[in-house]
Amino acid sequence: MTPEKTMTLDAIKTIGVIGAGQMGRGIAQVSAQTGYNVIVIEPYDEVIKKARASIDKNLQVALEKGKIKKKELPAIHSRITFEKELDSLAPVDFVIEAAVENTAVKVDIFTRLDQVCAPHVILTTNTSSVRLGKLASATKRPDKVLGMHFMYPAQMMKLVEIIKTPATSEESYQIVKELALKMGKTPITVTDSPCFITSRLIQTLINEAIFCLYQGVSTKEEIDTAMKLGMNHPMGPLELADFIGLDVVLAMQQALYNGFQDPKYRPCPLLMSLVEVGHLGRKTGRGFYEYNKDGTKKS
Ligand SMILES: NC(=O)c1ccc[n+]([C@@H]2O[C@H](COP(=O)([O-])OP(=O)(O)OC[C@H]3O[C@@H](n4cnc5c(N)ncnc54)[C@H](O)[C@@H]3O)[C@@H](O)[C@H]2O)c1
Repeated sequence: MTPEKTMTLDAIKTIGVIGAGQMGRGIAQVSAQTGYNVIVIEPYDEVIKKARASIDKNLQVALEKGKIKKKELPAIHSRITFEKELDSLAPVDFVIEAAVENTAVKVDIFTRLDQVCAPHVILTTNTSSVRLGKLASATKRPDKVLGMHFMYPAQMMKLVEIIKTPATSEESYQIVKELALKMGKTPITVTDSPCFITSRLIQTLINEAIFCLYQGVSTKEEIDTAMKLGMNHPMGPLELADFIGLDVVLAMQQALYNGFQDPKYRPCPLLMSLVEVGHLGRKTGRGFYEYNKDGTKKS
């Protein structure tokens, strides 16, 4: 029996990214800009087309801001390839999963990744709320399964939450941390717990803002103004909820509530009512506010 190869940061040449949605495309771009070959798995042609266009546009912006040089552009583009089947990840040295936020989908992906990728390959997920332990236990390498939670938009935002489970090895953790640093990010370390740090804090704020509205404490505009002018937040919590999508917000709050079994995280009934009638925020034209077809807020 040949001994299992040990992974080092220097041994990583090709990164597999699953999903070319809002997050996957940004993660693919950052990885290619850092010098890695990237294989992106995305089943849908139209999503691949949008991802390519978005990466082109973002690289152009990076060029205009002097963050990359013109002569680097063709190499960055050539490092990213798109594939449709997970089996195409057989040659990769590291994986960042950014598929849809659904526990069953992610468990299935991790079960398959464990079969497709070499045993020394570290498997990470960009999930915001799925329990890491569930994904780790779907594999025969729980010591090499971690969260690598980028913020939106991944190519710009500096923070990466690195999530460890009790089964994560120190070696795997160090490699993920070094990789995040190499990508120009600031990593923070988080123990696997419901919604980690960033999502837990922002969802708690959003839920409290919805309760303020529900209880008639103030108007939606004044609640948002309070946090924009009073706390220097770029968006108010209700505007932010509409931007994220109220169905996504509710799912995160339910993950917090179920994860802790603590009534302090119960989602506000007003949020549930809005989701039930399909007022999901900007993407449906109506949430806490109303929106025009181009996504701008109706005055
Ligand atoms: N959007 C955000 O602001 C944000 C921020 C941080 C983390 N996240 C997390 O990142 C992940 C991706 O989020 P997103 O907003 O990019 O989602 P998204 O729905 O925009 O993109 C997900 C993509 O994954 C693709 N995909 C590839 N393989 C798949 C498979 N086997 N099954 C299902 N889908 C597959 C889908 O077709 C889709 O295009 C989620 O786990 C989410 O919680 C999102």
